[in-house]
Amino acid sequence: MTLAYRIVRSEHYEINLVMRCLHNLADALHREAWRPDFDLLFLILHHAESFPATFHHPKEEDYLFEAVRCRRPEAGPMLDRLGEERAEGLALVSDLRQALEAYAGCPAALGRFHAAAKSHARHERQHMRREERTILPLALQVFSKEDWREIDTAFERNQHPLLSAGRRAEFDKLFALILRRIPGAVVFGSKDARKKKAA
Ligand SMILES: [Fe+2]
Repeated sequence: MTLAYRIVRSEHYEINLVMRCLHNLADALHREAWRPDFDLLFLILHHAESFPATFHHPKEEDYLFEAVRCRRPEAGPMLDRLGEERAEGLALVSDLRQALEAYAGCPAALGRFHAAAKSHARHERQHMRREERTILPLALQVFSKEDWREIDTAFERNQHPLLSAGRRAEFDKLFALILRRIPGAVVFGSKDARKKKAA
C-alpha cells in the first residue's frame, strides 16, 4: 500500500475517532449521563476546526484528488461534490463553535450544542466514507506505480508551512491530549455493556 494512501486512511481514522467522541459525549450530556468537561469539549472543537481544514484536506485535494481529476475527467462531478461537502463542513464546525460557546455560558443551550455536535460528526463521517468508497478505490485503480511514487513524494515533502512535520507533531500532541481525557466508559461503553453486546 502506498504511503499517500496510508496517510489518508490514518488521518481519516483520527478524524473518525474524534467525531465518535464528540457524537457520544453530546448524547451522554443529553441523557445526563456525563458532567461536561469543557476543557475536553474545546480540545475536540480545536481538532475539528483545524485538523481537517488545514492539514488533511489540502494534501488530499492538491496532491491526490487533482491527480485523479487529470486522469479521469469523468470523476469531476464526484470531486466537485466532495469539495462542496468540505465547504459544508466548515459551516457546520462554525455552528458547533457558536453552540459550544453558548452552552459553556448557559446550561440551557445544551439542546443547541447536542444538535450541532451530532450534525457535524455525522457530516464528517459520511464525507470520509464517501471518499473511501469512491475516489480512493478509483485512485488505486488508475494510478501506476510511477504515479504513486510522485504522489508519495509530494506527501512526504509536505513543504507547505501548514503541512510541515512540526504541524504533525502539534496535532499528535492534541490528539494524545484528547485521548487521555476521554471518559472511555462514556464514549465506548462500559466493559459490562460491551460484554453484553458481544454475547
Ligand atoms: Fe479525507
